[in-house]
Amino acid sequence: MRKPIIAGNWKMYKTVGEATAMLKELCRMPLPETVEVVVCPVFTALYPAQAALAGSKIKLGAQNVHWEEKGAFTGEISAVMLRDAGCEYVIVGHSERRQYFAETDESVNKKTKAALAAGLKPIVCVGETLAQRETGDTEKVIVRQVKDGLTGLTPQQAAGLVIAYEPVWAIGTGKTASAADAAQGCSLIRRTVAELFGSEAASQLRIQYGGSVKPENIAELMAEADIDGALVGGASLEAGSFSKIICYQ
Ligand code: 13P
Repeated sequence: MRKPIIAGNWKMYKTVGEATAMLKELCRMPLPETVEVVVCPVFTALYPAQAALAGSKIKLGAQNVHWEEKGAFTGEISAVMLRDAGCEYVIVGHSERRQYFAETDESVNKKTKAALAAGLKPIVCVGETLAQRETGDTEKVIVRQVKDGLTGLTPQQAAGLVIAYEPVWAIGTGKTASAADAAQGCSLIRRTVAELFGSEAASQLRIQYGGSVKPENIAELMAEADIDGALVGGASLEAGSFSKIICYQ
């Protein structure tokens, strides 16, 4: 059985004080043991967030990582450093990074490998833009992003991944993909991973849906067989709405 995983991607929001205050509030709420919960604050809030989460089961993740372990790469941060700050997860290849920071499938692949080598669990993001959807390229884009992003991984590494299907047109727009569309994307990802790494790896792989997930639509999404969780943006910024998403059952 795959354990559901709900992760909050806080993007470029929250100072250290705001982040720790919200996490303390979240820690006081009763959350189900059956769901794995991850929060991904900005870099400056990671270490204080670790302290705020001490004694709780909520895991820490970062939003980006560089593929080198160390060196002259001004402004970057390595997987080893993220581990050092208390991270267990890292988001790789978010569409905002692909769109605004020229991230490619090749860099996603390098980052994924570096994260795994350092013992971090990557949450690899894939998903089509509105233009790609309108030209009928959705499947082609998803398959390419999965294949090229995961090139060179072992079946065991693939099995331990989280892949987030985030259709770009559904991010921050309030326009959630229908549960059927979301499920179709997630099933395609699982089939692609099965082709590349075998059916056992594919059956262990956890797949999240992301894009305007809210307390109102989470249950319907989670009812789909191939959706194992959610990567939540806006609605993860407040303890009230995030906890409602976590307690979807
Ligand atoms: P929203 O939930 O704000 O649409 O953001 C989704 C997202 O990008 C999560 O990574």
